[in-house]
Amino acid sequence: MKKILSFIYPVTKKIHSEFSGDLELTWYNGKKHLNTKNANYSYGSLQKILKFGLQKVDLSSVKEILILGMGGGSVIKTLQDDFKYQNNITAIDIDPVIIKIAKEEFDIVENENLKIICEDAQLFMQLNLQKFDLIIIDLFIDTKVPSPFLETAFWQNLVNTHSTILCNASLEKEDKKLEGIIKFLERNHYNIEKYEKVNNTNTLLIANPIKE
Ligand SMILES: C[S@@+](CC[C@H](N)C(=O)[O-])C[C@H]1O[C@@H](n2cnc3c(N)ncnc32)[C@H](O)[C@@H]1O
Repeated sequence: MKKILSFIYPVTKKIHSEFSGDLELTWYNGKKHLNTKNANYSYGSLQKILKFGLQKVDLSSVKEILILGMGGGSVIKTLQDDFKYQNNITAIDIDPVIIKIAKEEFDIVENENLKIICEDAQLFMQLNLQKFDLIIIDLFIDTKVPSPFLETAFWQNLVNTHSTILCNASLEKEDKKLEGIIKFLERNHYNIEKYEKVNNTNTLLIANPIKE
C-alpha cells in the first residue's frame, strides 16, 4: 500500500538515531530511500553516485571488499545485483539503528559472503590486519564527513593496506582537505582519479596503488 501511495505523494516514517538525528524512510515513486534531515544516505542519488564509481573499478579480480559506512546497504545491493559481485564483503557502520534499518527495511542479510560490523570506522582501520582488494569509503553524518576521516592518520592506515580505494568525498567547503588527501596518496604511490559533480553533486576519488 505504501508503495502504491508513494506514486501519488512521498510516504515517510521517522526513526531517531543517536548519531544522525532523525532518519527518514521515504517511499518515493515506488522506491524506498533512507534520508537524514539534509542528505540522502541510501537508495537514491547516493546509490547512483557510488554505482558511477564502481563502473570505473576493475572488479574482475576483487575477492574482498570493505565498506566503511554501510548505511542502508545500497552499495551492497548495487554490487550484488548490478555487478553480480559474489565474493566477500565486510561492511562497517557506527550506528546500530542504521544497521537494524538495513536488515529490516532493506533486506540486507548477513551470510558467509557478507559480514556486518557495528564499529567506528577509524578504530576498525587502526586495528585491521585483513587484506582487502577494494575499500569503499562513504562516511557521513548528515551532510558532513566526520573530521577524523580527513586526517592523515586515517589515510595512513588506508595506504598501508595497498588496496584500491573508492571514496565518496563530498567536501565542497573543505576542498583544501581533499587536495591534502590527494597529495598524501600520491606521495604514497597511489594513482588518483577525481570525478567532480557526480550526479550533479558529489566528488568521487578512485585511488589505485601504483605497482612497482
Ligand atoms: C551515506 S551513509 C552510507 C550509505 C551506504 N554506503 C550505502 O551504500 O547505502 C553514511 C554512513 O556513515 C556512517 N558513519 C558515520 N560516521 C561513522 C564512523 N565514525 N564509523 C562508521 N560509520 C560511520 C553513518 O552511520 C551512515 O550510515
